[in-house]
Amino acid sequence: MDTFKFFRAPHVIIYGRNAFKEIGKQASQIGKKALIVSDAIIHQLGFVHACQEMLSENDVESVVFLGVKSEPTDKFVGESLELFRVENCDLVISLGGGSCIDTAKAVAVLATNNGYIGDYMNGAMAADVAPVPHIAIPTTAGTGSEATDVTVITNTSNDVKMMIKQPAFMPSVAIVDPILTVPSPQHVTAATGVDALSHAIEAYISRKSHPMTDVLALSAMKLIVNNLVTAYEDGENIDAREAMSLGALQAGIAFSNASVSLVHGMSRPIGALFHVPHGFSNAMLLPAVLEFSKESCIERLADLGRIFEPEKSLSNGAAAEVAVTAVKQLCKVLNIPNLKEWGIDKQKFDRFISKMAADAIASGSPGNNPRVPAKEEIEELYQVCFDFDFGYVSAK
Ligand SMILES: NC(=O)c1ccc[n+]([C@@H]2O[C@H](COP(=O)([O-])OP(=O)(O)OC[C@H]3O[C@@H](n4cnc5c(N)ncnc54)[C@H](O)[C@@H]3O)[C@@H](O)[C@H]2O)c1
Ligand SMILES: [Fe+2]
Repeated sequence: MDTFKFFRAPHVIIYGRNAFKEIGKQASQIGKKALIVSDAIIHQLGFVHACQEMLSENDVESVVFLGVKSEPTDKFVGESLELFRVENCDLVISLGGGSCIDTAKAVAVLATNNGYIGDYMNGAMAADVAPVPHIAIPTTAGTGSEATDVTVITNTSNDVKMMIKQPAFMPSVAIVDPILTVPSPQHVTAATGVDALSHAIEAYISRKSHPMTDVLALSAMKLIVNNLVTAYEDGENIDAREAMSLGALQAGIAFSNASVSLVHGMSRPIGALFHVPHGFSNAMLLPAVLEFSKESCIERLADLGRIFEPEKSLSNGAAAEVAVTAVKQLCKVLNIPNLKEWGIDKQKFDRFISKMAADAIASGSPGNNPRVPAKEEIEELYQVCFDFDFGYVSAK
């Protein structure tokens, strides 16, 4: 029986403080005119201007698309692709959070392959032609999208957050500079940090995990568990920011090659229908889904529990229990709201539960969970998570 595995990552990964300064040199080696895909906040921070200056110093022209908003849609993809074509660009640079990077991935692929972005979901159409080169520069820590072959785009005609995975979506170059994440406000640090933790945990417990992904997932879990609260409480702490950027990058590569599972499967429909930021919708589900899955992945969760409690000598069962309660406690420290506290109307939620469970299953992610749920079990989990008690304190 063949047991070989695939492992994909960008051709080049440049990471660490001031890695951003490499953008001009990298871009000049692969293009002459770049479309920079970013958003208004990143522009205000001065990062887009700095990027353009460094490109210009290396004789690379650039135009800017600032129309991305969180949880990107097929509309942003269409608009930025149009600009890419009208301006005769030959390179895409994404500068921002996962929303900017995912939009740019779609542009890079559609610039050389035909059709609508949704055509590429579940491999219905294959992106056979090499995409335009894409340099991804994350400003959150984060989705890890800079090093994954996944893009997540909302289909505005049916409110489905499409998870589209094909090798062509992998950026050519990832530049991961923790200094760019320093201005992230607390709620962004919390949401994106828990997203990264979810990637690491889900990659580690996934049925598709393998030795190459395990090392990265384990390392990412350690970096994130040991640094997320510091980055959240003291955003200027560059050591914590650097550890988070590296952890998010490793978690991204791990899940891109091992797949995410039930949390992400259930999280996307919440994002699409109720516009909850991706990291928060994961966090709202994570402890309850780990509890649901625990018996089927005791040893793996025990490894996570021992990262939280390295001093204690624990049995696998006790350490797995620590993992679940410590993740719940972490969500509490990060002041994660549950779905009710986020302000979702219960009647509307109930009306959509069946669709959300069906969309979750259709994405394929729940099938990678150590315990594969039936549709009814997913519906039940949505109910449990609706008013799950993290101990959230409202700012009002
Ligand atoms: N492709 C993948 O592999 C993958 C993986 C996980 C999540 N995602 C997707 O990524 C998207 C979420 O990305 P995200 O969590 O990075 O958030 P985001 O890109 O939506 O950004 C959230 C907010 O933070 C702001 N922001 C970003 N960086 C900042 C900084 N340094 N300082 C101040 N503000 C900053 C943004 O302007 C935005 O308002 C979702 O659509 C999710 O589905 C994709
Ligand atoms: Fe994610």
